[in-house]
Amino acid sequence: MQEFGEVLDLLATGEYVSGEDLAARLGITRAAVWKQLKTLRELGYEIAASSGRGYLLQARPDRLYPWEVAKDLNTKIMGCHIEYYDRISSTNRRAKELLAESPVEGTLILAEEQTAGRGRLGRTWFSPPGSALYGTLILKPQLPPYDLPKLTLVAAVALSKTIERELHERPLIKWPNDLYLKGKKISGILTELSGELGRVEFLLLGVGVNVNQHPEDFPEEIREKAGSLRSILGKDEKISRSGLLRSYLQILEEEYFNALRKGFAEALAYCRQYSATLGRQVEVTDGERVYRGKALMIEEDGSLTLEAESGARTRVISGDVNLVGSDLPGEA
Ligand code: BTN
Repeated sequence: MQEFGEVLDLLATGEYVSGEDLAARLGITRAAVWKQLKTLRELGYEIAASSGRGYLLQARPDRLYPWEVAKDLNTKIMGCHIEYYDRISSTNRRAKELLAESPVEGTLILAEEQTAGRGRLGRTWFSPPGSALYGTLILKPQLPPYDLPKLTLVAAVALSKTIERELHERPLIKWPNDLYLKGKKISGILTELSGELGRVEFLLLGVGVNVNQHPEDFPEEIREKAGSLRSILGKDEKISRSGLLRSYLQILEEEYFNALRKGFAEALAYCRQYSATLGRQVEVTDGERVYRGKALMIEEDGSLTLEAESGARTRVISGDVNLVGSDLPGEA
């Protein structure tokens, strides 16, 4: 897709700019300028034209165009290359296909809509157009395989911090990979590995965030459990998805480099402090097995220790957690 960052910057100064000036500053012909303006309008940008004065950008569409996400993005790797789709089956699936082409670390697959969005444990991820974030980052972490599952926690920490920074509410982390705000699930993370046993080459970090959906937009079967940031926080205005995504990429990069350099202690401490799981009675389903007990501790290796009524303790490495009994903490 064409790059429109430069022409948009020139159109967005608040002053009209003539076609001639645009052509000179962009180093292209006036006909080429006209073509770019036409394409931008087709993409949903509102550009006023006034004879004698020129052009002025009046409104941007609510789209995750790569040049919008890249605007003022100060990251070294995260989002350095963005593959953008209006509609795709699944960003994780596309990321997996791309591995054959040796993508650079930090490549982001981004979509407005997924027709076969995937959740953990073979579930589907509800992915309607234009109101949420669906993205998969391709990473190449130089870490031993046993450390890799903790990168899911790092992503959850980064997303929780992002929402706190941007919207001033801190979601809790439901081990191992869900984010809850006021008792509703607002985000899920799907991490997949590629490579040989013992030598992982790529890690695919897929994140879905419910941003602007209305409660009635969710299918009935998940309406109780899921919510969007906008509806939970009661915001009249739409939340900027590109702003949220930029912030996430920046914070995730800090957390990721921090974990690679110094280990996972800080991320684990955050997960324990802002946990929706610890101290609660839970039921963890891991394949065929179901473990019940009180969630005691998120361990150094990222696993969860449960204590059964008998006092017996079990460590669970992954699984699906159900909180038994009362509502989630932080429920309104
Ligand atoms: C879960 O909670 O089960 C994890 C959901 C992960 C959904 C995201 S949306 C972007 C990426 N592409 C997918 O197909 N799934 C992940």
